[in-house]
Amino acid sequence: MIIKIDRNTKTPIYIQIRNQIRSMIFDGQLPAGFILPPERKLADSLGINRSTVLNAYRELKADGLVDSHVGKGTIVQSHLTEVSKGGGVINPPQWRQFFSQMAERSTMPLLRELLETANREDIISFAAGISGLEMDPIETLVGMETDLINQPSHFALKHTPTEGFLSLRENIALLMEKRGVSCSIEEIMVLSGSQQGIDLAARVFIDPGDVIIVEEPSFFSALQIFQSVGARVMGVPVDENGMQIDILEQVLQRYRPKFIYTMPTYQNPSGVSMSLERRKALIELAYKRKVLILEDDPYGELRFEGNRLPPLKEIDKYGHVIYLSTFSKILFPGIRIGWMVAPKPVINQFAMAKQMADLHANSISQWIVDRFLSSGSLDQHIKKICTEYEIRRDLMLESLMNNPIEGLKWNKPLGGFYLWCKLPERTPYSALLVKAAQNGVVYVPGTAFYLGGREEEYIRLNYTYPPRESIKLGVDKLKKSISETLDSIPKTQKIRLSEIKPIV
Ligand SMILES: Cc1ncc(COP(=O)(O)O)c(C=O)c1O
Repeated sequence: MIIKIDRNTKTPIYIQIRNQIRSMIFDGQLPAGFILPPERKLADSLGINRSTVLNAYRELKADGLVDSHVGKGTIVQSHLTEVSKGGGVINPPQWRQFFSQMAERSTMPLLRELLETANREDIISFAAGISGLEMDPIETLVGMETDLINQPSHFALKHTPTEGFLSLRENIALLMEKRGVSCSIEEIMVLSGSQQGIDLAARVFIDPGDVIIVEEPSFFSALQIFQSVGARVMGVPVDENGMQIDILEQVLQRYRPKFIYTMPTYQNPSGVSMSLERRKALIELAYKRKVLILEDDPYGELRFEGNRLPPLKEIDKYGHVIYLSTFSKILFPGIRIGWMVAPKPVINQFAMAKQMADLHANSISQWIVDRFLSSGSLDQHIKKICTEYEIRRDLMLESLMNNPIEGLKWNKPLGGFYLWCKLPERTPYSALLVKAAQNGVVYVPGTAFYLGGREEEYIRLNYTYPPRESIKLGVDKLKKSISETLDSIPKTQKIRLSEIKPIV
């Protein structure tokens, strides 16, 4: 029985305990007859007063969910059933029986819990995938409220076409021109974040059993989405020049995937970009094998150094590439506006799926982004954040280099949000995650980015979210945690990962 206490919420701790036990009883995890841990034992394990647990158990008793007997303890009740007026038996729903196979395939608790921890104020987070708070162009929002209220037809508060506001799509077409891609507004659809584009691609293209190819490592949400719809997801490894096209070629000789999902520029999590040569080879291969490419490009404009590399969509002349991008990394992530560029028949099919999902992207968000683009402030803003993020990346590199840990290796991304580190060989990976959180720093473990959760020796560090002054401190905490976990294992002992349970 795992109970988690959140000390940052206003909900009293005894209510948090009551609610969690209650949910576990209702979803069948704690069956009738289950004996709850003795009050003192639970209190000790949670680091709270015994009276708090006592209060929680009293509440559960008042709800009729448990009963206590001297000498036997506090026991989950078997009379969770009542007789209805018609004489039938009423039970609380056993939720697991109702969930679809797709829902059952969608679990990634580690990340959810990690993100919860990352939100704590006492923690330096290298786990986020967002921009620094102080980089938000808040000033551009000033006056918008009045303009919104004074719009004669309040159109930003009404429905928009599923494909998005016309004027926003026009502005996106101009933006795409700057990215080297000429497209008409009929080839553009506004999305509720680019992640929705990945989800729609899964719905529109994948039937259970279809093969999908991804890079390894790859964006964890994409892996989760493809797996949840029952795709057979196959990984092609990434090296310092991106997806290894020779390996892809071998895979394509055996399998006929629906599409290849790739992040060619400043990949999440590795920060690596696909070389120009490989980009061209990938497009040629897609033509030859009649495979689509889902190009995900949230970070392409965040270039600190090196030559600009063309998006695959720019190289593609025959419409094999479906292009996704987003304002989450260059504006505000919470505004949830992304977009796709694809041939018209694809846009039409995606629009139908999107209509079923959410009708259209949030109108006010679309209106805000449109104003931002029309005012011409995006280029300036991107310049500003690139300058700052390069400084933060360099600070992270310097901090890692300063008194380096033997065996700890990292790369130098030329843009984007992430640095990819390989831990020293004998590091007990799961224990490190726990130790780092205790020492006040969090990161995303590499397992999240691999199919089947392999490759524990990598970690992803984000340098855009923590302010400059936290970066060195956070890296020092991380290095200290690595040293401490390495010191804690006898030199000859082999680590059995199954023995170590992550708590975050
Ligand atoms: C590669 C990649 N694709 C898509 C997304 C999702 O972006 P959005 O916020 O637009 O849904 C992210 C966000 O981290 C990402 O890293």
